Amino acid sequence: MDKSPVIATQGLTRQFGDITAVDHLDLEVYPGEVLGFLGHNGSGKTTTVRLLNGVLTPTAGTAAVLGLDPTTAGAELRRRTGVLTETPSVDERLTAYENLSIYAELYSMPKDQIDHRVGELLTQFQLADRADDRVSGYSKGMKQRLALARAILHSPELLFLDEPTSGLDPVTTRMVHTLIRDLSGKNGRTVFLCTHNLDEAQRLCDRVAVLEFGRMVALGTPNELARNLWQGLRLELETSLEHVNATVKILRELTGARDIAQAEAQPVVTLSLSKRDLVPQLVNKLVETGIPLYRLTPQEPTLEDVYFALHEKEEAKV
Ligand SMILES: Nc1ncnc2c1ncn2[C@@H]1O[C@H](COP(=O)(O)OP(=O)(O)OP(=O)(O)O)[C@@H](O)[C@H]1O
Ligand SMILES: [Mg+2]
Repeated sequence: MDKSPVIATQGLTRQFGDITAVDHLDLEVYPGEVLGFLGHNGSGKTTTVRLLNGVLTPTAGTAAVLGLDPTTAGAELRRRTGVLTETPSVDERLTAYENLSIYAELYSMPKDQIDHRVGELLTQFQLADRADDRVSGYSKGMKQRLALARAILHSPELLFLDEPTSGLDPVTTRMVHTLIRDLSGKNGRTVFLCTHNLDEAQRLCDRVAVLEFGRMVALGTPNELARNLWQGLRLELETSLEHVNATVKILRELTGARDIAQAEAQPVVTLSLSKRDLVPQLVNKLVETGIPLYRLTPQEPTLEDVYFALHEKEEAKV
């Protein structure tokens, strides 16, 4: 299998005046991979996507996307990639059907295939019954669904999705997650996914990159990041139904414990500790108060745990 990277950047940098939006990014993304791109507002995610698409030129450094230089081969690149931008622009004066079929023509899709492909996408994105209405009358989520359909219309090898599920309802969000998983898993497509949704990143991404003020501060599988970057511990504990409320109260008072959640109708509580060393203290407190402790089980850390730990570490440096 060809393992040459689909995206490779070296020292990729973009400044806007005094702001370094993307700061010496060295990144390789491989075929069939879903790469999550995480970072706070203004950390440089959208700027990176725009650099990789040739919409912006770098201040320094280079990028190769599908082996092409985005600054000189932007047009060819855009034929082979799909992009869902942060604020998708669909033509409001046209219908959903027209929006998609015009793009299909732009992509030189054979005329006899256009109707079929457009119809298929309108059904998949639950727009079939509104296909002939003007987009200006669509809801925000409907426009987002149309923009997503347009991004995958020509079955691109590489798909850039800048916060694809922002503004979508839970059912559509799940549909989009399945779509991303199928694009990569069944069809070998590469997906570059900017998201603020850590749960989404954990579930979908093979690897994640974390940006802080334009710099990549972490890169790896969610599990690798958890092992290397997090000193804490996620726990599940079991008490009795009668004591579960008191348990939650005590845990809330414990410094270094967060994400305390009670399972529905069960005497089970999950929580996250910032340090493993807090376990004896936690057990002592519960036992001292007369709370029966039947089970204490470690859980896999989440990407959220890692992200917060990383963010706190970076903030401490400032
Ligand atoms: N065209 C521009 N002109 C001036 N500054 C810009 C421009 N585009 C981006 N920036 C600045 O670059 C930095 C990175 O912005 P960018 O949009 O890439 O962040 P982001 O990670 O996508 O944030 P968000 O999560 O809010 O979408 C910000 O400080 C932003 O103000
Ligand atoms: Mg952005």
